[in-house]
Amino acid sequence: MRTEVAIIGAGPAGLLLSHLLAQDGIESVVLETRSRAYVESRIRAGILESSTVDLLDAHGLAERLHAESHEHRGIYLQWPGERHHLDFVDLVGRSVRVYGQTELTKDLGRARDAAGQQFVYEISDTAVHDIETDRPYVTFTRDGEAGIRLDADVVVGCDGSFGVSRTAIPERVRQTWERTYPYAWLGVLADVAPSTDELIYAWHPDGFALHSMRSPTVSRLYLQVDPGTAIDDWSDDRIWSALAARLGHGQDGWELTPGPITDKSVLPMRSFVMQPMRHGRLFLAGDAAHIVPPTGAKGLNLAVADVGLLAPALAGLLRKRDATLADAYSDNALRRVWRCTHFSWWMTTMLHTTGDPFDAQLQRSQLTWVSSSSAAAQGLAENYAGLPIGF
Ligand code: FAD
Ligand code: PHB
Repeated sequence: MRTEVAIIGAGPAGLLLSHLLAQDGIESVVLETRSRAYVESRIRAGILESSTVDLLDAHGLAERLHAESHEHRGIYLQWPGERHHLDFVDLVGRSVRVYGQTELTKDLGRARDAAGQQFVYEISDTAVHDIETDRPYVTFTRDGEAGIRLDADVVVGCDGSFGVSRTAIPERVRQTWERTYPYAWLGVLADVAPSTDELIYAWHPDGFALHSMRSPTVSRLYLQVDPGTAIDDWSDDRIWSALAARLGHGQDGWELTPGPITDKSVLPMRSFVMQPMRHGRLFLAGDAAHIVPPTGAKGLNLAVADVGLLAPALAGLLRKRDATLADAYSDNALRRVWRCTHFSWWMTTMLHTTGDPFDAQLQRSQLTWVSSSSAAAQGLAENYAGLPIGF
C-alpha cells in the first residue's frame, strides 16, 4: 500500500487531520487498532472551546454540532456554602459548547466516509520505520496477516496516550516531562436531566466533584477518588450520596436529582509532555505527544489545535516543497501545549483536596480570589474558553 500521509489512530486528531489534508488535495490512509464502533462510543471529552468550534466551522464540520450542542457562557465554581458563576462572555467575549467527543467522532467519520477516505480498523503490531529518510513506512497485522506495509511521504502519530509512534523518535532527541497526581476521577454517565444549566466545579473537604452533561436528558458527573480505587467499591447509591454532599445538595435550595447510571469508570490523572513533536518524517499530534488532567477540559481541544497547525504545515511540505511551517510545527504546537499544561495543572491543584490543611487554606484563598477579582476570573476564562489556535 502507498499513500502520501500515513495517519496512525482514528481518534479526533487522526480523523480531523485526514479531513483537512483532503481539503488540500492530499491523500491519507488512517490506521486504527480498535473497531470503528468502539472508537465512536468511547466516552471522553465534553467541552469544545471556541477556537475548536471555529476550526470545525471553517472546514464544514459543524452542522450537527450547531444544531445539537449547547452553548455555555461560563462555569460555576463552588465550595461549601458558596457558588459563583464566571461568565466567560462578559469576561473575555468567548463561550464554550457542550458536545460529546462521541458525537464529534461520528461527525468526523461521516465526513470522511462521504469523501471516500481509506481506513484500516482492527489492526495490531503497528510499527513505524525509517522516519529519518524520505521514505518512511508503517507495518501492521490485520486478519492474521503480519507485516502489511504502508509506504508514505510522511507518517503522523495520532495514536493517543498508549500509542507506539512517540517511541519511534530516538531516545537521544526525546525529552519528556511528567507528573502523576495523587488522585483519580470516578466518572459516571446517567440518564437524568442535568441539575444545573452550566458545569459546576466543586471544591469540598471530601474531594473534588464536577457536574457536567451531554444533553438535556444525560448528565456526566465526576468524583475525586484515590488512584487505586476499585469501581466495585462504589455502588450507585454511594456515588449519588457523595455527589450530593460535594455538589451541595440543599445549599440555597439547590437539589441534585439522581438517576440511572449507565456507565462508570476510574480515570488516572496525569500531565505528560514530550518534545520534539516532529522528527524527520514523523509528526505527532494530540494525546500521542501530551496528556493533561481533565480538570481544564483541554485534551480534545489541544488535539484539534495541533491538527490546525499540522495540516497547513504538511500541505506546504508536500505540495509546495516549502518546509517552513513543518520545521516550525513542534515549537509552535508546544507553545500552546505548555500553556494548556499549566492551566490544567492550575485548575487541578486548585480544586482537588490533598489531605494537607495548609493546601486547603491556599485553595480556598485562590477560589475566593478567582471568584471575586475580575482580573483573576479573566485569566481563568481566557484559558478555559480557549486561546487562538496559533497562540
Ligand atoms: P485518542 O482519542 O486517544 O485517539 C487515539 C487513537 O489511536 C485511538 O482510537 C486508539 O485506539 C488508536 N491507537 C492507539 N494505539 C494505536 C496503534 N498502535 N496503532 C493504531 N492505532 C492506535 N478533553 C477535552 O478537551 N475536554 C474534556 O472535557 C475532556 N474530558 C475528558 C474526559 C475523560 C473521561 C477522558 C478520558 C478524557 C477527556 N479529555 C477531554 C481528553 C480527550 O478525550 C483526549 O485528549 C482526546 O481523545 C485526544 O484525542 P487524540 O485523537 O489525540 O487521541
Ligand atoms: C466532561 O463533560 O466530560 C468534562 C467536562 C469538563 C471537564 C472534564 C470533563 O473539565
